[in-house]
Formats: sequence, structure tokens, C-alpha cells
Amino acid sequence: MFTETDNRSLDEIMKARRICRKFTDRVPSKEDVAAVVEAGRLAPYASISSGDVDVFRHFYVIFKDNPLLDKIEALIRSQSAADVAWLKKEMEKDSFLKEYGEGLEKMWTNVAEHGLPVFPNPPCLIIIAEWRGARRAERQSLAHTIQNMWLKATALNLDFNLISPIESMWDNQEFCDLFGLPTGRYGFHGCIVGYRQAEKLTSKPISAQVHWL
Ligand SMILES: Cc1cc2nc3c(=O)[nH]c(=O)nc-3n(C[C@H](O)[C@H](O)[C@H](O)COP(=O)(O)O)c2cc1C
Repeated sequence: MFTETDNRSLDEIMKARRICRKFTDRVPSKEDVAAVVEAGRLAPYASISSGDVDVFRHFYVIFKDNPLLDKIEALIRSQSAADVAWLKKEMEKDSFLKEYGEGLEKMWTNVAEHGLPVFPNPPCLIIIAEWRGARRAERQSLAHTIQNMWLKATALNLDFNLISPIESMWDNQEFCDLFGLPTGRYGFHGCIVGYRQAEKLTSKPISAQVHWL
């Protein structure tokens, strides 16, 4: 079905995929954004959970200059402050978190105090909501969705940022109300698509090992 050229293109796209933390003001076209969303729609889902509701995956596309962007950033900041307070308490009783939680505490504190580097007013924010289901597999489904979108964005020469703090919004009523979704019933993830401002990419080489047994 697929040619060697198709196969090589897939490898090239996977190799080219990189995080972007600084965007220009250029807004991506609606057509390209729709293609990115369609790639997310095609991602696998936890079928046992999906049967509970008519629409188990929603995409909300918010372009630059929409006042919703400021509201969402403010909610991310206040949620991050609440997450830091929660983390500090957990660190008192969880020895693993005590040992390894400091980096996360610093990052969340920074988001709470200064906001995210890709805000204010990013070129295009996409929020994805996935029905939670009894098994709580929505986070995996969201990760698959995000990955499809990221690869598609890369293939379209668009740049991409993941916004992990949006994952904490599942029980944030003000956030769920923005989208008319019931609080606590959907998991969330979010990403920015746009065009990269010249920046030095500092990612470490991927330190994975393969064990052929
Ligand atoms: C689960 C997960 C969460 C991530 N969250 C964020 C995030 O909130 N903000 C961000 O800028 N990058 C985020 N990233 C991107 C990673 O920092 C990035 O993939 C890593 O540094 C490797 O760089 P590369 O993607 O350019 O190869 C996340 C990646 C993963 C897998």
C-alpha cells in the first residue's frame, strides 16, 4: 500500500518534530489548522469509555486576539498556584516526590507567577477535551491525539508547543464552563500551533536504550 518514499517521509517527519517555545505573530491558516485537528481526530481512543457519550473528543480552536486567550492564561496561572500548594503537601508524605519534586515545584511556581512563555496572545491555541470514562484512560488518548497533531503540524511546516498545565484543568469549573463542558467529566490537553521565532534548540539527545533479548 505505502511506497518506500512514503515510509521515508514518515521517518523524516518524526525526526524533524521539535518543541517550539517562541512563536512569531504570524497566524496559521484555517485550512492548515483544520488538517492538524483532523489528524487529532484520527488518533486512537479507549473504546470502552467512548461508548458512554455521543461526542467523546472535542477540539476548541482559538486564534490570536480572541479575549478567551487571556482568560485561559489567567486560569492556567491560578490552577498552577493551586497545584504547587497540592504538591508541597504531597511532598511531605511521599518520599519519591520529596526527592524528585523540586523541579516540578519550581516550574509550576514560575507558571503561577509569570505565566507561560508562549502567552500572551499566541497565534493559535487548540484545546482538546476527551471523555474521562471509568478507566481514566483519557490521558493516554489525549497523548495519542497530541502526537498525531504534532506530526501533522510538522509535515505542514508548522511549529508546535505542548501546554501540559492544561491537563490539570479537568476539575476546574471556570475552565470547563468556558467550553460548556461538565466539570470533572473530561480530561484536557492543549497545544499552540504557529511559526517558530529563531531560537536555539537546546533539547538533549534522547537517552533511550534498546535491549534485543
Ligand atoms: C508528557 C510531555 C509533556 C510536555 N510538556 C511540555 C510543556 O508543558 N511545555 C513545553 O514547552 N514542552 C513540553 N513538552 C516537550 C518536551 O519538553 C520536549 O519534547 C523535550 O524537551 C524534547 O524536545 P523535542 O520535542 O524538541 O525533541 C512535553 C513533552 C512531553 C512528552
